[in-house]
Amino acid sequence: MLPFRSLTWTGRRLRLLDQRQLPHRTVYLECATASEVAEAIATMAVRGAPAIGVAAAYGLVLAAQAATEFATLPSVLEEAAARLKGARPTAVNLAWAVARLLQVSGPDLGSWQSNLLAAADRLYQEDAETNYRIGCQAQAVIPDGATIVHHCNTGALATVDYGTALGAIRVAAEQGKKLLVYLDETRPRLQGASLSAYELLAYNIPFRVMVDGASGHLMRTQKVDLCLVGCDRVAANGDVANKIGTYNLALAAKAHQVPFYVACPLSSLDLSTPNGEAIPIEERDPQEVTHVGERAIAPVGTPVYNPAFDVTPAAYVTAFITEEGLVYPPTAQIWAGSVALHKPPTGRTPSQGSAF
Ligand code: MRU
Repeated sequence: MLPFRSLTWTGRRLRLLDQRQLPHRTVYLECATASEVAEAIATMAVRGAPAIGVAAAYGLVLAAQAATEFATLPSVLEEAAARLKGARPTAVNLAWAVARLLQVSGPDLGSWQSNLLAAADRLYQEDAETNYRIGCQAQAVIPDGATIVHHCNTGALATVDYGTALGAIRVAAEQGKKLLVYLDETRPRLQGASLSAYELLAYNIPFRVMVDGASGHLMRTQKVDLCLVGCDRVAANGDVANKIGTYNLALAAKAHQVPFYVACPLSSLDLSTPNGEAIPIEERDPQEVTHVGERAIAPVGTPVYNPAFDVTPAAYVTAFITEEGLVYPPTAQIWAGSVALHKPPTGRTPSQGSAF
């Protein structure tokens, strides 16, 4: 178990484990306003699609608690919602959580405020439960003895608890499966090397950190059973936005016939986005690329291209692992039924997948 939670509500404030300081320093950030929460999301003190959604929900609670009049509460909430949603554009969980909180109301200021807090607490609880269920569903495709490639950080730090792809790995280990996990270091911010390694050490799961470019060589020269990644948004057609480098990993996996699974809470599904082209891709500060920590690695004035996410077309996804079960592309009709469970087409086993 991780000794810390990525976020906790203290009764008056939102306490965030500052992930920019990990793995070497355990520092907490106390947010007292919605603007402070938005800033923590934008600067990635808190990160990971589910975690930023839950953080934003408490951001709205903070905004409401600062309101003094019932009449102005709707505009206070709308203003805070816009700021929170604008903090990071790609992960749809953020907009989803904010929309869910905006549906809450109450007959007077006090009840509205306490209803908002109850709704944020529910989201917090549900997130941990959803992730655990994803982890259980994933066991159908994680054999004992599996060698797994994982990208970025999708664990307890990226969520309220457990995590999605890394949560599935944790559940597998808890069930006694022997695993070897290759962690992409995940340039430029190195969430794999700093955060996923931190988690797997805590869970005592064997792993190696590798540079992102090593996965093709690994799959060409050694047996890899599956790739397991998270997602920030899944479009209606099954295209997936996730941390930059996910697409390269999917290409290498396809070339080597390694099944490629996306752990996907249903809150990451965006039916209003038809395909990957329509997913907004966040571009971040050039300094993330020109520097490692404080140290410059590129000449001063180096021009940079720094998309924080990429889109993996649905055709490269073997299956989505949701809390309700596995969903095999093509997904459009399946999602439309708001995720009626979809069984693997006849003659195809989960480990063979649909993309091959
Ligand atoms: O930029 P980050 O660190 O927030 O990106 C995180 C990812 O891309 C994760 O894979 C995704 O949010 C899923 S986390 C369960």
